[in-house]
Parts: sequence; C-alpha cells; structure tokens
Amino acid sequence: MVPILDNVDELRGYIKSVKVPFNLGIRVAAEEEPNFPFYTSRLGIRAKDILEFYVDKIEGNEHRFQLKMLHIFLNKGIKDDIYYWSELNKVINLYCQLKKICPELDSINIGGGFPIKHSLGFDYNYQFMINEIVRNIKVACKRTKVPMPNIFTEFGSYTVGESMAHIYSVIGEKMQNDKETWYMIDSSFITTLPDTWGIGEKFLMLPINKWDNEYHRVVLGGITCDSHDYYDSEEHIKEVFLPKVGEGEPLYVGFFHTGAYQDQISGYGGIKHCLIPSPKHIIVGYDKNGKLHDWVYAKEQTAQSMLKILGY
Ligand SMILES: Cc1ncc(COP(=O)(O)O)c(C=O)c1O
Repeated sequence: MVPILDNVDELRGYIKSVKVPFNLGIRVAAEEEPNFPFYTSRLGIRAKDILEFYVDKIEGNEHRFQLKMLHIFLNKGIKDDIYYWSELNKVINLYCQLKKICPELDSINIGGGFPIKHSLGFDYNYQFMINEIVRNIKVACKRTKVPMPNIFTEFGSYTVGESMAHIYSVIGEKMQNDKETWYMIDSSFITTLPDTWGIGEKFLMLPINKWDNEYHRVVLGGITCDSHDYYDSEEHIKEVFLPKVGEGEPLYVGFFHTGAYQDQISGYGGIKHCLIPSPKHIIVGYDKNGKLHDWVYAKEQTAQSMLKILGY
C-alpha cells in the first residue's frame, strides 16, 4: 500500500499512527486548463515545493518511511494535446530530478482520465496514447540517465464505465413552441445521471426500439420539477435526434456506458465517490409544545460498512 500525500501536513498523521516502515507517494499539483476557474488544482502539492519537502521531511528519517511514487491526475483526462503533454512532462522531469537524490523512488502514477466512448463517433487512439506516455518517460529517463519508473494508472471510467446502462421510457410528448419538442422520460436525469446535469457530461444515447420510425429533433426532459432536468445534446452533434413515438408500445431510450460515478454520486449511502461516506443525518425541529428537539435520523456511514459492500 502506498498512501499518496495530497498535503504536506498529512505526513505528520502517518508518522504518528503507523508503527511499521511504510512507503509514501506524493501527488503533484497540476496546472488547470485555461478555461477552468482556477490556475492550479487544489489537489496535490505544488511542484516547486516538492524537492524541498522531500529534503526537509522525508530524506534521512532513519528508514521509517520512504518516497516510492509520484502521482499526477489531470481533471481533463488523458488527451493528445499540449496541455496534457506539458503537465505529464512536469511530473516526469520531477521524477528524474528526485530520483538522483532519492533512489527508493521508483514509480510514476498517471492517475485516471483514460476516456471511453460517449458517442458512436468517438475516435481515440488508445495504443498511440499509451505508447507516447511510455515514450516520453523513457526519453526523459535516458536523457537524465536515471532508471525507468514503474508506471501505475488509476483508470476509473475506463475500467467500469461500460458496465452499466440506463433505460428510460418516454411517457409523454410535448410541443412547447414551433421548434421544441420534449420527450418526457419516466425518471430524472438529475437523480439518475447526475453528471449530465452537474458537469454537462454526455453519454452514448440510442433508441432501443422504433428504429424504423422517422427521426426528429427533441429534448429529453426529466419529471422532477427542476427546470435543469433535461438532456438536449449529444457529444458529436449538440442536439438529440430520436424516432417519432408513433403508436403502440412506448419509445425506450438507452444511455450506455454509465457505469462510472452516476450511482455513486446520487442517493444516500452505499459506495460513494472516492469512498467518502454519507454524513450523519440529524433532524432538528420543534414538537407541538414548541420544544426544540434533535435526533439522529441516520448515523454517519462507516468505512467498515463500505468495505463490506465491496466484499472485504
Ligand atoms: C485521484 C484519482 N484517480 C483516478 C480517478 C479516476 O478518474 P477517471 O474515472 O477519469 O479515470 C479519479 C477520479 O476522480 C481521481 O480523483
């Protein structure tokens, strides 16, 4: 197990509570893309502080703990663009620098962000990207004469995204003006596919039946009262086209590759995003005599209960 430090202060906690020799990793803070509201990610330790942190706090600690891994995770995912290569090279260069004074360091973790298909038009050269990542690491190591690191990944969506699909039925059609036709689904995007609402995520969407009917442009609407509960564009065309409903059985619409994050973000309890437990629910209110009461409606979810669900 290699705990990754996100913050320099976390080291104190490990020193205090871990009684056996242990390994450590450090997450390197990435610069965000120019269109993000922040310059630098809140996650990780600033690249320019890491060498000093290593020398001051990790080196020469009588072998109680050692730095084994550098970690980077880019919010925007692994893409063939200047931003990705420049951030990746930042961590590779840091690895090469650190390796010279920290021989135990032997791993780079490139985090998650390997994409999956969110539209039929998706075209991504997985082999090329992996080859390029390995090549970049190799070239830098050769140039600086340090051994190649082990390369770790934490591909989340790539591993589980394709494991699930959501199927809705269209329970009503509404034409609200001359151009906008709504298909109302028997559920809610906000509660069942929260990424569509929260971060504008698109999923692979296909009609399940009525393929031979004429197609037209529609907007899919959830049946919550929330005006943002809709899905109006596909990744490649920024619009949604579906068959006309016609007669007979309802039109079913499938959203595919929804296995990552959607269940974990919505609902109470269970396995939540990054294993952050559901908090304690406390209800505070007055009884009919005007006396204030509070009681625990649900206890905070424990780490043990999550691990049990996961089969540990
Ligand atoms: C540290 C870390 N690693 C890996 C992942 C998985 O990312 P993805 O699902 O994009 O592969 C995440 C996602 O939040 C993350 O925060």
